[in-house]
Amino acid sequence: MTAAPGRPSQPPPPPADHRLPPADLQVHHGPLSSTELSRLAPALAALERLALADEAALWGEEGLGQTLRSPQASVAILGELAAPRAYCLYTCVAGECEILQIGTHPQHTRRGLAQALLHAVFGQAIASDCDRVVLEVRRGNVAARALYDRCGFNQVGLRRGYYQRPGTATADRSADDALLLSRAL
Ligand SMILES: CC(C)(COP(=O)(O)OP(=O)(O)OC[C@H]1O[C@@H](n2cnc3c(N)ncnc32)[C@H](O)[C@@H]1OP(=O)(O)O)[C@@H](O)C(=O)NCCC(=O)NCCS
Repeated sequence: MTAAPGRPSQPPPPPADHRLPPADLQVHHGPLSSTELSRLAPALAALERLALADEAALWGEEGLGQTLRSPQASVAILGELAAPRAYCLYTCVAGECEILQIGTHPQHTRRGLAQALLHAVFGQAIASDCDRVVLEVRRGNVAARALYDRCGFNQVGLRRGYYQRPGTATADRSADDALLLSRAL
Protein backbone atom coordinates (compact mmCIF):
# COMPACT_ATOMS: atom_id res chain seq x y z
CA MET A 1 0.00 0.00 0.00
CA THR A 2 1.35 3.45 -0.91
CA ALA A 3 1.28 6.23 1.69
CA ALA A 4 -0.62 9.46 0.95
CA PRO A 5 1.80 12.16 -0.26
CA GLY A 6 3.44 14.03 2.61
CA ARG A 7 2.15 11.67 5.29
CA PRO A 8 4.23 8.95 6.88
CA SER A 9 2.97 5.45 6.18
CA GLN A 10 1.24 3.72 9.09
CA PRO A 11 3.31 0.94 10.64
CA PRO A 12 1.84 -2.47 9.84
CA PRO A 13 -0.20 -4.00 12.66
CA PRO A 14 1.84 -6.34 14.83
CA PRO A 15 1.49 -9.99 13.87
CA ALA A 16 -0.94 -12.00 15.97
CA ASP A 17 1.24 -13.27 18.81
CA HIS A 18 0.29 -16.59 20.35
CA ARG A 19 2.85 -15.86 23.06
CA LEU A 20 0.93 -13.03 24.70
CA PRO A 21 -0.05 -14.12 28.21
CA PRO A 22 -3.23 -16.11 27.74
CA ALA A 23 -6.31 -14.59 29.28
CA ASP A 24 -7.03 -17.70 31.31
CA LEU A 25 -3.75 -17.63 33.25
CA GLN A 26 -4.43 -18.14 36.97
CA VAL A 27 -1.84 -18.08 39.72
CA HIS A 28 -2.72 -19.53 43.10
CA HIS A 29 -0.50 -18.86 46.08
CA GLY A 30 -0.23 -20.67 49.32
CA PRO A 31 -2.84 -22.98 50.66
CA LEU A 32 -5.80 -23.50 48.36
CA SER A 33 -9.26 -23.77 49.81
CA SER A 34 -10.48 -27.33 50.20
CA THR A 35 -12.96 -26.74 47.36
CA GLU A 36 -10.20 -25.52 45.05
CA LEU A 37 -7.95 -28.37 46.12
CA SER A 38 -10.61 -30.97 45.48
CA ARG A 39 -10.97 -29.72 41.91
CA LEU A 40 -7.32 -29.08 41.12
CA ALA A 41 -5.49 -32.05 42.66
CA PRO A 42 -7.18 -34.79 40.57
CA ALA A 43 -6.96 -32.64 37.43
CA LEU A 44 -3.24 -32.02 37.96
CA ALA A 45 -2.67 -35.71 38.64
CA ALA A 46 -4.31 -36.54 35.30
CA LEU A 47 -2.27 -33.87 33.50
CA GLU A 48 0.89 -35.02 35.26
CA ARG A 49 0.29 -38.56 33.97
CA LEU A 50 -0.15 -37.26 30.42
CA ALA A 51 2.72 -34.76 30.40
CA LEU A 52 5.37 -36.13 32.73
CA ALA A 53 5.02 -39.92 32.65
CA ASP A 54 8.15 -40.33 30.50
CA GLU A 55 10.18 -37.84 32.47
CA ALA A 56 9.99 -38.35 36.18
CA ALA A 57 8.47 -40.34 39.00
CA LEU A 58 4.90 -39.15 39.27
CA TRP A 59 3.68 -37.50 42.47
CA GLY A 60 0.10 -38.58 41.96
CA GLU A 61 -3.00 -36.98 43.40
CA GLU A 62 -1.83 -37.49 46.98
CA GLY A 63 1.65 -36.04 46.48
CA LEU A 64 0.34 -33.12 44.47
CA GLY A 65 -2.40 -32.47 47.05
CA GLN A 66 0.18 -32.49 49.82
CA THR A 67 2.35 -29.98 47.96
CA LEU A 68 -0.61 -27.78 47.13
CA ARG A 69 -1.56 -27.68 50.81
CA SER A 70 1.86 -26.33 51.75
CA PRO A 71 1.84 -22.60 52.48
CA GLN A 72 5.11 -22.23 50.58
CA ALA A 73 3.90 -23.79 47.36
CA SER A 74 2.25 -21.92 44.52
CA VAL A 75 0.77 -23.08 41.29
CA ALA A 76 0.23 -21.24 38.03
CA ILE A 77 -2.23 -22.86 35.68
CA LEU A 78 -3.70 -22.15 32.30
CA GLY A 79 -7.33 -23.08 32.03
CA GLU A 80 -9.97 -24.10 34.53
CA LEU A 81 -9.02 -25.52 37.93
CA ALA A 82 -10.71 -28.78 37.01
CA ALA A 83 -9.18 -28.97 33.51
CA PRO A 84 -5.88 -27.10 33.21
CA ARG A 85 -4.03 -27.12 29.87
CA ALA A 86 -0.67 -26.41 31.49
CA TYR A 87 0.66 -25.91 34.99
CA CYS A 88 3.74 -24.91 36.91
CA LEU A 89 4.27 -25.77 40.57
CA TYR A 90 6.86 -23.76 42.41
CA THR A 91 8.04 -22.51 45.78
CA CYS A 92 9.47 -19.14 46.81
CA VAL A 93 11.64 -19.59 49.88
CA ALA A 94 14.48 -17.49 51.29
CA GLY A 95 14.94 -15.42 48.15
CA GLU A 96 14.95 -18.39 45.79
CA CYS A 97 12.18 -19.61 43.55
CA GLU A 98 12.28 -23.31 42.70
CA ILE A 99 10.32 -24.80 39.84
CA LEU A 100 9.06 -28.16 41.10
CA GLN A 101 7.06 -29.31 38.08
CA ILE A 102 5.94 -27.86 34.77
CA GLY A 103 3.89 -29.57 32.13
CA THR A 104 1.68 -28.85 29.15
CA HIS A 105 -1.09 -31.14 27.93
CA PRO A 106 0.31 -32.97 24.89
CA GLN A 107 -2.52 -31.59 22.73
CA HIS A 108 -1.48 -28.00 23.54
CA THR A 109 2.30 -28.03 23.26
CA ARG A 110 4.32 -25.54 21.18
CA ARG A 111 1.80 -22.74 21.67
CA GLY A 112 3.80 -20.75 24.17
CA LEU A 113 1.89 -22.00 27.24
CA ALA A 114 4.89 -23.12 29.29
CA GLN A 115 6.76 -19.97 28.36
CA ALA A 116 3.81 -17.82 29.49
CA LEU A 117 3.61 -19.75 32.76
CA LEU A 118 7.32 -19.32 33.44
CA HIS A 119 7.13 -15.58 32.82
CA ALA A 120 4.16 -15.34 35.19
CA VAL A 121 6.19 -17.27 37.78
CA PHE A 122 9.15 -14.91 37.30
CA GLY A 123 6.85 -11.96 38.04
CA GLN A 124 5.46 -13.62 41.17
CA ALA A 125 8.96 -14.59 42.32
CA ILE A 126 10.15 -10.99 42.00
CA ALA A 127 7.11 -9.87 44.00
CA SER A 128 8.13 -12.43 46.65
CA ASP A 129 11.64 -10.92 46.85
CA CYS A 130 13.37 -13.78 45.05
CA ASP A 131 16.52 -12.99 43.14
CA ARG A 132 16.79 -16.22 41.16
CA VAL A 133 14.82 -19.17 39.84
CA VAL A 134 16.31 -22.66 39.98
CA LEU A 135 15.28 -26.07 38.70
CA GLU A 136 16.53 -29.50 37.69
CA VAL A 137 16.09 -31.01 34.25
CA ARG A 138 17.09 -34.35 32.75
CA ARG A 139 19.86 -33.85 30.23
CA GLY A 140 17.94 -35.89 27.63
CA ASN A 141 14.76 -33.80 27.95
CA VAL A 142 15.19 -31.87 24.71
CA ALA A 143 11.89 -29.97 24.87
CA ALA A 144 12.33 -28.77 28.45
CA ARG A 145 15.95 -27.80 27.91
CA ALA A 146 15.02 -25.76 24.84
CA LEU A 147 12.26 -24.07 26.83
CA TYR A 148 14.59 -23.17 29.71
CA ASP A 149 17.27 -22.00 27.32
CA ARG A 150 14.74 -19.73 25.66
CA CYS A 151 13.66 -18.39 29.05
CA GLY A 152 17.20 -17.41 30.05
CA PHE A 153 18.33 -20.26 32.33
CA ASN A 154 22.00 -21.24 32.62
CA GLN A 155 23.50 -24.47 33.86
CA VAL A 156 25.07 -24.14 37.32
CA GLY A 157 25.49 -27.76 38.36
CA LEU A 158 25.22 -31.43 37.44
CA ARG A 159 24.07 -34.64 39.18
CA ARG A 160 25.24 -37.66 37.26
CA GLY A 161 22.72 -40.43 36.65
CA TYR A 162 20.20 -38.73 38.91
CA TYR A 163 17.12 -39.75 36.92
CA GLN A 164 18.12 -43.36 36.30
CA ARG A 165 15.41 -45.76 37.36
CA PRO A 166 15.30 -49.54 36.96
CA GLY A 167 14.13 -50.47 33.47
CA THR A 168 14.46 -46.98 32.07
CA ALA A 169 18.19 -46.78 31.42
CA THR A 170 18.89 -45.32 27.99
CA ALA A 171 21.79 -46.30 25.76
CA ASP A 172 23.29 -42.89 26.45
CA ARG A 173 23.58 -42.87 30.22
CA SER A 174 24.44 -39.20 30.35
CA ALA A 175 20.87 -38.50 29.12
CA ASP A 176 19.77 -39.24 32.69
CA ASP A 177 22.05 -36.70 34.32
CA ALA A 178 20.26 -33.91 36.15
CA LEU A 179 21.32 -30.46 35.04
CA LEU A 180 20.85 -27.78 37.67
CA LEU A 181 19.75 -24.56 36.02
CA SER A 182 19.43 -21.06 37.39
CA ARG A 183 18.08 -17.78 36.08
CA ALA A 184 18.66 -14.43 37.70
CA LEU A 185 15.60 -12.23 38.19
C1 LIG B 1 8.65 -28.98 28.15
C2 LIG B 1 7.20 -28.54 28.03
C3 LIG B 1 6.70 -28.10 29.42
C4 LIG B 1 7.11 -27.37 27.03
O1 LIG B 1 5.76 -26.91 27.02
P1 LIG B 1 5.16 -26.05 25.81
O2 LIG B 1 3.92 -25.39 26.32
O3 LIG B 1 5.05 -26.89 24.61
O4 LIG B 1 6.32 -24.99 25.57
P2 LIG B 1 6.19 -23.61 24.75
O5 LIG B 1 5.21 -23.76 23.65
O6 LIG B 1 5.98 -22.50 25.72
O7 LIG B 1 7.65 -23.52 24.11
C5 LIG B 1 8.45 -22.36 24.22
C6 LIG B 1 9.77 -22.63 23.51
O8 LIG B 1 10.45 -23.73 24.14
C7 LIG B 1 11.11 -24.51 23.12
N1 LIG B 1 10.47 -25.83 22.98
C8 LIG B 1 9.35 -26.26 23.60
N2 LIG B 1 9.09 -27.55 23.24
C9 LIG B 1 10.05 -27.91 22.38
C10 LIG B 1 10.33 -29.11 21.66
N3 LIG B 1 9.52 -30.19 21.77
N4 LIG B 1 11.43 -29.15 20.87
C11 LIG B 1 12.24 -28.08 20.75
N5 LIG B 1 12.03 -26.90 21.39
C12 LIG B 1 10.95 -26.82 22.20
C13 LIG B 1 10.95 -23.72 21.83
O9 LIG B 1 11.99 -22.76 21.77
C14 LIG B 1 9.60 -23.06 22.07
O10 LIG B 1 9.41 -21.93 21.26
P3 LIG B 1 8.88 -22.14 19.72
O11 LIG B 1 7.68 -23.03 19.78
O12 LIG B 1 8.59 -20.73 19.28
O13 LIG B 1 10.03 -22.78 18.97
C15 LIG B 1 6.28 -29.68 27.47
O14 LIG B 1 6.90 -30.24 26.33
C16 LIG B 1 6.02 -30.79 28.47
O15 LIG B 1 5.04 -30.75 29.19
N6 LIG B 1 6.93 -31.77 28.51
C17 LIG B 1 6.80 -32.90 29.44
C18 LIG B 1 6.99 -32.46 30.87
C19 LIG B 1 8.40 -31.96 31.12
O16 LIG B 1 9.36 -32.45 30.55
N7 LIG B 1 8.50 -30.98 32.03
C20 LIG B 1 9.79 -30.40 32.39
C21 LIG B 1 10.45 -31.27 33.40
S1 LIG B 1 11.91 -30.46 34.01
